[in-house]
Amino acid sequence: MASTRKFPHHLIREIFEQPDALRHTIEPRVSADAGLVRLDEIHISREELRALRRINIVASGTSRHAGMTGQYMMQELAAVPVDVDYASEFEYRNPMIGRGELSIFITQSGETADTTASQREARQKGSRTIAISNVEGSTIAREADGFIYTHAGPEISIASTKAFTAQMACLFLFALYLGEIKETVSEELAKHYIRELLALPLKTETVLAAAEQVEKLAELYYRVDDFMFLGRAIHYPIAMDGALKLKEVSYIHAEGYPTGEAKHGPNALIDFRLPLVIIATCDRNDAGSVTRYEKNVSNMEGFKKQGATLIALATEGDTTIPQIADHTLFIPHAPELLSPILEIVPLQLFAYYVAAKRGLDVDRPRNLVKAVTLE
Ligand code: AGP
Repeated sequence: MASTRKFPHHLIREIFEQPDALRHTIEPRVSADAGLVRLDEIHISREELRALRRINIVASGTSRHAGMTGQYMMQELAAVPVDVDYASEFEYRNPMIGRGELSIFITQSGETADTTASQREARQKGSRTIAISNVEGSTIAREADGFIYTHAGPEISIASTKAFTAQMACLFLFALYLGEIKETVSEELAKHYIRELLALPLKTETVLAAAEQVEKLAELYYRVDDFMFLGRAIHYPIAMDGALKLKEVSYIHAEGYPTGEAKHGPNALIDFRLPLVIIATCDRNDAGSVTRYEKNVSNMEGFKKQGATLIALATEGDTTIPQIADHTLFIPHAPELLSPILEIVPLQLFAYYVAAKRGLDVDRPRNLVKAVTLE
């Protein structure tokens, strides 16, 4: 899709490269027939992985948002407690980690100083480490016990897009791998998830095919100066990343919040002047997802009564959300744990089109660098 088109900026090309980035990251590591995930570069024995007491995920920025989705994936599929930290804060909380634990460091560049320093601290305390990076031979990968590379191809634009979706795919692969080892995932479930993983690139293409609709939305909103992004459960990190993308490339103030937290303060801000981008997708095969969806619908009705403008992400076929929201962008149906990989794509497109309409340097936003190599 991306290779046959010409793009005005790296950022939009990289957004369109996501189907291929996902293919290259997922396909070599799974066997749909056997229901097996292969992660040859982990270099930690199955016995050790089976006995893990806890997993710590440490990263910065968008990579940390991927880590937050990984927490849901691993707790759900491998029944292991998972903590997520900002790399820049890790050392200050005297992390009580050690033997019998695994620490996962996620960094696109593999050179982020806060993240490499955190990995050294975790190793010193006796934790095993795995690095998830897009750069082969990077500092983080060289110093880790094992690594999982995101095969997203070089990411030039400062805003991370294809590396992010590939990171989430790697985290899901690891969660499934661990679930197989711990026997918390049955062969049947593993096969189901692998089929769903393999379907993601095509579904991502479907989302990208609606880019024009997102561009029209950007045309309506690019002059607005404040946005709030809301998401519940595993969709909350996607709300966070949607807000981060918008602020870094458009210089628009945008906050990401858990939907249920709005009532605990931010609601005071919500009126017609503050557009809300709310993730309200639903996996109809998952009872928990349906319950959360119903809560989202009720929250949206409340926001509407306050006069809010709602831009919603909903699952294809949903007829309720479009009746409440001012604008609805649709996402193909996917299991709850994989849906975030699709949801972020329209939010990336939105940030890109808003920034482009504002006439900004979308690939090199002011005051930012691709790899933050100083703490
Ligand atoms: C992402 O759009 C940002 N540019 C930034 O948050 C980035 O994700 C962060 O600096 C971490 O970088 P890394 O993944 O290379 O460690």
